[in-house]
Amino acid sequence: MRLPQLLSLRRGKNLFLPAHGRGNALTMETRRLLRNKPGVWDLPDLPEVGGPTCNGGAIMKSQTEFAEVFGAKKCWYGVNGATGLLQSAVLAIAKPKQAILMPCNVHRSVLQACILGDITPLLFDLPFLEDRGHFCPPSFAWFQKVLEKLKNENISFSAVVLTNPTYQGYSEDLEPLIKEIHKFKMPVLVDEAHGTYFSSPLADLNLPKSALNAGADLVVHSLHKSALGLGQTAALWLQGDILDPIIVERSIALLQTSSPSALLMASCESALYELFSISGRRNLRNSIETARELVFQLRKEGVPLLETQDPLKLVLHTSSVGINGINADDWLINRRIIAELPEPGTLTFCLGFARHRGLRSLLKLTWDKIVSSNIERNSFPPFTRPPSPLIKTLNTSLLESFKADWEIVPLSHSVGRVSSDFISPYPPGIAILLPGEKLNNEFVSWMIDQRIFWPEQIPSKIKVVV
Ligand SMILES: Cc1ncc(COP(=O)(O)O)c(C=O)c1O
Repeated sequence: MRLPQLLSLRRGKNLFLPAHGRGNALTMETRRLLRNKPGVWDLPDLPEVGGPTCNGGAIMKSQTEFAEVFGAKKCWYGVNGATGLLQSAVLAIAKPKQAILMPCNVHRSVLQACILGDITPLLFDLPFLEDRGHFCPPSFAWFQKVLEKLKNENISFSAVVLTNPTYQGYSEDLEPLIKEIHKFKMPVLVDEAHGTYFSSPLADLNLPKSALNAGADLVVHSLHKSALGLGQTAALWLQGDILDPIIVERSIALLQTSSPSALLMASCESALYELFSISGRRNLRNSIETARELVFQLRKEGVPLLETQDPLKLVLHTSSVGINGINADDWLINRRIIAELPEPGTLTFCLGFARHRGLRSLLKLTWDKIVSSNIERNSFPPFTRPPSPLIKTLNTSLLESFKADWEIVPLSHSVGRVSSDFISPYPPGIAILLPGEKLNNEFVSWMIDQRIFWPEQIPSKIKVVV
């Protein structure tokens, strides 16, 4: 089948991202634009339109206006997802050979930017939920332990990246962590790819605090993941006085296409507008309240949905009955129910902002069917966390090991070697092994064990530096 035909296929129940639910919740403005003569919106950076890093033009004006609405100093739209803007942000906060402190569940785009900029990642361990195999963001007490350890071991760094919320929706209040980091006048970049709508003014709904309100210097939003933007739309916000906007803008220009799509730029604006407009807020409130009620009812009916802080994510605890979430996903796809994030312990559905009529009975029925099916069962949980120290440092530079000559060896023969491989099951895009890591016995055994859960994603042979 040719791609255009494939894209117009009906898929059954869409419980995946983008959050506009295959157009069902797109903003009125975007719908109107798309109903125009096909392609009429496909404009280059004409003087009146401009681009995210142009002086003048409608895009710059729009970014400036929204920076003001969000209480930020600067805003830039992006057309390569949160990925592209995270990478620019990382290049803006550190120089070659400097180190950035970041959590071990950081999205791989941050690590890829470290390769590009010859920056050293200092990965700190996180609380791990063994019943489902998920990391959660650090509490203040946890983060203080990390800082203490860095101080005792005399390890220096120049910036911090935090991820909040996680893909599954776990979130912590980052304000005390950011305040602590600011005591050292260091910038904090927050990957809030999954939490754009936390910045909407709906205080009574008890949503997690947006990193913009928690005082982060740079915040990246994926507008297609957690607002109503089209695929690839994103926004980067700058606030405070630690970072120079010129340096951030230079880094954006470094990685950005010279022809950003005008349609995607318009979609960025429209998605942000929706977070603040009266009708947008009403719709958002509706989505959140409906989702909370759905979870409440499904739990009452015995469907094991785990608790996270993002009401629009439904995290089905498949491993609570010994079913791998990846197998459950295959089973559901065959029945035309398409989830977002299959993992060994869970299957996460994204409700997004579209309405889902009949979802409660569909999910209840499906869960009952899967439990009584002959789908493969295993004896898990518990899941074991990766055997990593509180702070993971690399043995050689990430860039040098990535570019080094390599050979392929069976995982079981890799002990004592330095990895040249970047292994990161996708989704969720969290790295298991980085270039520059020296492989020890304990870690290799853990990786071999993980192959039971991720047979397609963790290879039996890896690249090591020769
Ligand atoms: C935590 C996190 N950050 C960033 C990204 C990248 O987002 P995008 O798809 O908008 O590039 C993802 C994608 O899965 C993610 O989960």
